[in-house]
Amino acid sequence: MRLVLLGAPGSGKGTQAARLKEYLQVPHISTGDLLRAEVAAGTPLGLQAKEVMARGDLVSDGILLGMLRDRFSRDDTKAGFILDGYPRNLAQAAALDELLHSLGQKFDAAVQLAVDNEQIVERLAGRAQAEGRADDAPEAVRKRLQVYDQQTAPVIDFYRQHGQLTVVDGVGTLDEVFTRIVEAIAPEKAVG
Ligand code: AP5
Repeated sequence: MRLVLLGAPGSGKGTQAARLKEYLQVPHISTGDLLRAEVAAGTPLGLQAKEVMARGDLVSDGILLGMLRDRFSRDDTKAGFILDGYPRNLAQAAALDELLHSLGQKFDAAVQLAVDNEQIVERLAGRAQAEGRADDAPEAVRKRLQVYDQQTAPVIDFYRQHGQLTVVDGVGTLDEVFTRIVEAIAPEKAVG
């Protein structure tokens, strides 16, 4: 299964990808996690990305594509993957297509987790208090939602127009949302 998980910041992509990884037995590739690892390690790339991420902007397409190429050069992605946080604009959608094409692959499904902004602001405010992630501060959350509307929503429209998009209601318990995703991508594997 080659799955692209889409949705606004805080829509639950990372949470559900962690479960889907176990369920589908394929790697979870989160561009946010890859970037945060670079920041934590203090690499030159991490130093470049740190401030951009903290204010809620997108890190440059070139950096992201380099990271992704590197990650996809590893053998574990051959059997499938769950891609979380990429693509975030139309240029990245085109780059992903090209990258997968060069590997003789294409994704099986693009799933959007739909959650309204009010719920998102509530979720991320809770995480800001609990975990102190810099980009969960109210101003950065506003910026992330703005960037999502301006740059990432067109990717969703693009996949919808090309019949590649499945929308899943992302509101409910973690189990409920997980079951909806599994039913959407692999109905034969759904439990219950
Ligand atoms: P990234 O890490 O991808 O952040 P994001 O998309 O803003 O995603 P989040 O991790 O905040 O949300 P999520 O949808 O994964 O939800 P989660 O499961 O965590 O990117 C961070 C930054 O890196 C970007 O802003 C950008 O700067 C840079 N970056 C990354 N990719 C890039 C790219 N391709 N190009 C350029 N720059 C890039 O859940 C959120 C919270 O909600 C958690 O507390 C969780 O417990 C809770 N929750 C989850 N599900 C539910 C539920 N069903 N009910 C109630 N609460 C829930």
